[in-house]
Amino acid sequence: MKAVEVKEGIYWVGGIDWNLRSFHGYLTQRGSTYNSYLIIDEKITLVDTVKSYLTSEMLERIRSIIDPSKIDYIVCNHVEMDHSGALPELMKLAPKAAIFCSPKGEIGLREHYKADWNFKPMESGTILNLGKRTLHFILTPMVHWPDNMVVYLPEEKILFSNDSFGQHLASSERFDDEYPLDITMLEARKYYANIVLPYSKQVQKILVGINDMDIDIIADSHGIIWRKHVKEILSSYASWASNETRKKALIVYDTMWHSTETMALAIQDAFEQKGYVTSLVSLQHNHISDIMTEVIDAEFICLGSPTLNGRMLPSMSAFLTYLLGLAPRNRKSIIFGSYGWGPKQIEEMAKMMSEAGFEVLATEKHKYVPGPNDLETLRQRIKALL
Ligand code: FEO
Repeated sequence: MKAVEVKEGIYWVGGIDWNLRSFHGYLTQRGSTYNSYLIIDEKITLVDTVKSYLTSEMLERIRSIIDPSKIDYIVCNHVEMDHSGALPELMKLAPKAAIFCSPKGEIGLREHYKADWNFKPMESGTILNLGKRTLHFILTPMVHWPDNMVVYLPEEKILFSNDSFGQHLASSERFDDEYPLDITMLEARKYYANIVLPYSKQVQKILVGINDMDIDIIADSHGIIWRKHVKEILSSYASWASNETRKKALIVYDTMWHSTETMALAIQDAFEQKGYVTSLVSLQHNHISDIMTEVIDAEFICLGSPTLNGRMLPSMSAFLTYLLGLAPRNRKSIIFGSYGWGPKQIEEMAKMMSEAGFEVLATEKHKYVPGPNDLETLRQRIKALL
């Protein structure tokens, strides 16, 4: 396994997780990578590491350039173990290496690894001299954890962005001009929707600073490295972070005997008659992390569930928990569902959505099986709202 040159003297030495299919619940159907970068300068520097089970892969790539014991500096942009997991092994090989991290990063690393390594906590704006080059530290709290930071190498115009701009995507290609752009963008969008979305306000702040930088390469810590489409990913992040939506309705439902499903179809029809793009998603056949990718640009998020034991179906309950945790803003909603003898689930779902800041425009319920006239009435009522 060889290192891949990113720019002269700077190498990708990460690990490829070909078989990863779940990242704590996020369906990673294309696997992932954990990108670490080796900078050969007077101070030999490694930016981020990999998950612990890929440590030997990372070390082999480093050894294709230098002996890992020669590493002077390790930059740990983020404590989460997909980026710090190789530290214990690496620190056995290079015990004197200094670990540069944010102040919260030092606390987090000590709490994770119970080791008294040579920590050098850095504040935003601090500059570290590597010899011919310098690393500029920018703290980015909550993108993704309180400890997160990014580092910028102005002499090479590289931003080492850690989780930001990443995608869960395993490939032998490393750069955005080598891999189909539509897949990279789709995975970046899924990654934003499932990981970064709750921190959109913080992303907006960071983008202000990043837009002032001269950037040739965004060396992220997951997936493909951006070098040809830097502007596109920055502009997509600006759009996603501002919770920009389009004339689109996402209709998410589960059903027992198809009554709620026929309501979902009537609601979809109403939106289409009013010129909306729609996406109809059954919770029985779609993973919640894929549904989130559809949420990102939807003006309407409509939720349908029948009653089960006086509550919504557990599949809807799980989706709502996930959706509300990821906190999309500026969305409208319609809640609907069938029931037998008590429509309590509608009230429960509407309450949860309202409390999370969604504008609930209608609650639609139907006893037992809706007939053609009922569905037409529903269609007309929804159309009247749009
Ligand atoms: Fe890729 Fe927040 O770790």
